[in-house]
Amino acid sequence: MTRLDAPATARNRAPILAILERWLGASVRPDPIRVLEIASGTGQHAVFFAEALPHLRWQPSDPDPAHLESIEAWRVGSGLENLAAPIALDVRAGDWGIDSVDVLFNANMIHIAPWTAAEGLFAGAGRVLAPEGLLFLYGPFRVGDRHTAPSNEAFDADLRRRDPAWGVRDLERVAALAAAAGLSLVESNDMPANNKLLVFRLAPGQHRLAT
Ligand SMILES: C[S@@+](CC[C@H](N)C(=O)[O-])C[C@H]1O[C@@H](n2cnc3c(N)ncnc32)[C@H](O)[C@@H]1O
Repeated sequence: MTRLDAPATARNRAPILAILERWLGASVRPDPIRVLEIASGTGQHAVFFAEALPHLRWQPSDPDPAHLESIEAWRVGSGLENLAAPIALDVRAGDWGIDSVDVLFNANMIHIAPWTAAEGLFAGAGRVLAPEGLLFLYGPFRVGDRHTAPSNEAFDADLRRRDPAWGVRDLERVAALAAAAGLSLVESNDMPANNKLLVFRLAPGQHRLAT
């Protein structure tokens, strides 16, 4: 099995962990917090966060067979008991085959995929998140119709050259999509390298109302 390496995960994982710890660090629940990671990629985030937060049960996923193989290779190598074997999951599916989770985590997907992936992500979040469940969404975002840095503007142009359906997304448009699925943007964190970590919460009573 081939372990893939995404060097950026080594750079962004500690700042992301600091925010996950602030939100999820002190659990008083006897049972594990159920986390579903969407688009786990290599699997390196999954191993790092599952190891640092042992009271979470981390479920990685990805639609790409090569990524699923890499995630599994990293998982087996880690020996972590709170890290589940990866599942094949395309967010655009109408049924994720998941019953209910407390937390969704997604990094670096919605700009490297067509807008339908963002739509699928939030529709699925509305379906599978437990009441008051959280969605952590990491990546670059435009704010107020502008890029937040020249490097993001160049990255956006490069993405659109590779695929016209890709591109850095507008935070306001993403927040509106979330609201339509019953999720509120409760926190926007500025992260290194001009990224953001957005935190959304499913409003109480919104569970399974999203279409
Ligand atoms: C740039 S990688 C990011 C991987 C990892 N989250 C990270 O931050 O290193 C984008 C990932 O999104 C996944 N992806 C693309 N379209 C998707 C979809 N429709 N549903 C779920 N995952 C998708 C790809 O397979 C890939 O693993």
